[in-house]
Amino acid sequence: MNEKLQSIKEQALAQIQAADVPEKLNEVRVKFLGKKGELTAVLKSMKDVAPEIRPKVGQMVNEAREELEAALAETKAIMEKAIREAKLKEEVIDVTLPSKKNMVGHRHPNTIALEEVERIFIGMGYEVVEGPEVEYDEYNFEKLNIPADHPAKDEQDTFYINKDIVLRTQTSPVQARVMEQGQLPIRMIAPGRVFRSDEVDATHSPSFHQIEGLVIDKNISFADLKGTLEVFAKELFGPETKTKFRPHHFPFTEPSAEVDVSCFKCGGKGCRFCKGSGWIEILGCGMVHPHVLEMCGIDPEEYCGFAFGVGLERIALLKYEIDDMRLLYENDIRFLKQF
Ligand code: DAH
Repeated sequence: MNEKLQSIKEQALAQIQAADVPEKLNEVRVKFLGKKGELTAVLKSMKDVAPEIRPKVGQMVNEAREELEAALAETKAIMEKAIREAKLKEEVIDVTLPSKKNMVGHRHPNTIALEEVERIFIGMGYEVVEGPEVEYDEYNFEKLNIPADHPAKDEQDTFYINKDIVLRTQTSPVQARVMEQGQLPIRMIAPGRVFRSDEVDATHSPSFHQIEGLVIDKNISFADLKGTLEVFAKELFGPETKTKFRPHHFPFTEPSAEVDVSCFKCGGKGCRFCKGSGWIEILGCGMVHPHVLEMCGIDPEEYCGFAFGVGLERIALLKYEIDDMRLLYENDIRFLKQF
């Protein structure tokens, strides 16, 4: 019996030593210590052993079992440690390697310019509102004092969806929409996309952006308009910037003006940038026409106000000295990255 046990043990130990992966160790465990294992079989055959040596044999079997279990556990621990180390070696992270850069694109010059304009007006207490790009003819024209036969309708080369619906040609209809809500006073800007049936060239596009401004309150004067736009121009183009108001005509304002700023490139002396004049036109504005106020449900005897409209692309082109509007729509990252 002793020899048999000894031989089982030696075989088992030899196989444990030969095992190279944990699965093999498990096979050895099943083969010798499992329910049908060789050592277990010895225990089961105890009934054939003479009763007086049974305790001795039982003890020997248990000792052999303990020895094998210890050898299994020890070998398994060594194996697992080796595996862990190999894995760590394989997955080592070199923190000195340069990281992979994510390409996240770049903010568009229009976006940068719009955020700047919004910052300036929000700083003066204005709200930023939006209106629909597909608009009723009534809001785009009629409520802005541009009746059906008005020549301004031609000038704006409108895209018609049908007789009553257009792609808005200006952001001014947002004025009418906000005034109609009747929450006074109003101090808002309305940026957005507008559409005109224009051919694409260096200064035209059938789709571009405007920012509308509107203030309605009691006792608003042309001086408020001038002061506001002067602050705006200085903030946008620098503290030395001068503004000039030239009389103009817009159907929805009376009086109306166009505003020029002194050329921020030459300071007003005249250069290629301002075409020698020293001035650059940037926007249209005026006092809201009493007729417009009335049509939008506001009493012109009690309230008055001013409005202005500025082209966003125009600001972006001027501010970043871009000489062709088409560059703004091509979205070439090599161009966009420069701003
Ligand atoms: N909507 C005008 C345009 O597209 C710009 C404009 C001029 C807006 C005068 C105004 C304004 O609010 O008062 O040409």
